[in-house]
Amino acid sequence: MNIKDVYVADVNRYDNGMIYERCGKSGVKLPKISLGFWHNFGGIDSYERSRSIVRHAFDHGITHLDLANNYGPPYGSAEETMGRLMKEDFAPYRDELFISSKAGYDMWPGPYGNWGSRKYLMASLDQSLRRMNLEYVDLFYSHRFDPETPIEETLQAMVDIVRQGKALYLGISRWPLEALRKAIDYLAARDTPLLIYQDRLNLIDHQPMDSGQIELCASRGVGFISFSPLAQGLLTNRYLNGIPEDSRMATKACLNSDQLTPELMAQLRQWNSEAASQGISLAEKALLWVLQQQSVTSVIVGASSMKQLDDNLGTLKYL
Ligand SMILES: NC(=O)c1ccc[n+]([C@@H]2O[C@H](COP(=O)([O-])OP(=O)(O)OC[C@H]3O[C@@H](n4cnc5c(N)ncnc54)[C@H](OP(=O)(O)O)[C@@H]3O)[C@@H](O)[C@H]2O)c1
Repeated sequence: MNIKDVYVADVNRYDNGMIYERCGKSGVKLPKISLGFWHNFGGIDSYERSRSIVRHAFDHGITHLDLANNYGPPYGSAEETMGRLMKEDFAPYRDELFISSKAGYDMWPGPYGNWGSRKYLMASLDQSLRRMNLEYVDLFYSHRFDPETPIEETLQAMVDIVRQGKALYLGISRWPLEALRKAIDYLAARDTPLLIYQDRLNLIDHQPMDSGQIELCASRGVGFISFSPLAQGLLTNRYLNGIPEDSRMATKACLNSDQLTPELMAQLRQWNSEAASQGISLAEKALLWVLQQQSVTSVIVGASSMKQLDDNLGTLKYL
């Protein structure tokens, strides 16, 4: 390995403006801005670009990296990227990182590679740990609610995962309110309290606020973390003048150009000019809005370049 490739983290990484917030009523603090591996860190992406983004993130105090078994594409490959990064760059920093993974969506064929059975969750986490070169994850999530598996089976599997030492904390993503309430009770009664709830919250989509999950979390000492705080890039300057060729909308199925309705474009332009009159960017306005909501612990941003991540980190100076 070329000596220049040896990563030494910035000695000022905790003095670069990052703010850490206690996650609910737990002992853990999370950075206000976390980094997600859903896109841009898969097997189809340039490893060196992914690596530069993650190094830059850690050098700026982003200690929380959010993954899932199926991030890529292909499935599993974002965790493989993380595994390579652990081996090549981050092994000396393992105890400074808070790494999450999830299981809940289709991952492998057959009846045991999807949803919320004990069989699936246990096997999936073992696979995730192997891919990431980790002995444990800091946080393991149920990625979605399974209406067919008894809720106790899913939750007990999660409790046992903590007891086995394969995860330190538990999280839940995108569960309906009543199921979330049951989960909080079940996990608290077994001394493995729910650390955090993850859902989409941004200027366009207020769903976990409107359906009560955020209020429930706040009242029960559970943290809240928002995914897609920039609405996959809609809430940035990315689409204000058309659809760039290298953008998520042009290259990925998860963001469809049908979403860019004239009404939404008008709203985005209005937010953009409001932001400009405050001397900030649309992305900063969008991230500030989420981070200023009560009980929001952190936002998980995605980034396809170091520059985007830097722009997003700029939000911290207004908090
Ligand atoms: N629990 C769940 O079910 C769930 C679901 C979705 C996501 N997540 C988590 O949340 C993370 C973030 O989701 P997301 O990627 O949708 O987040 P996002 O931050 O809303 O969108 C990220 C995308 O926005 C664009 N972007 C970001 N910063 C920009 C900037 N400053 N200027 C211009 N464009 C910018 C980039 O698009 P381009 O790629 O076009 O450059 C980037 O890939 C995921 O990685 C994952 O960890 C969880």
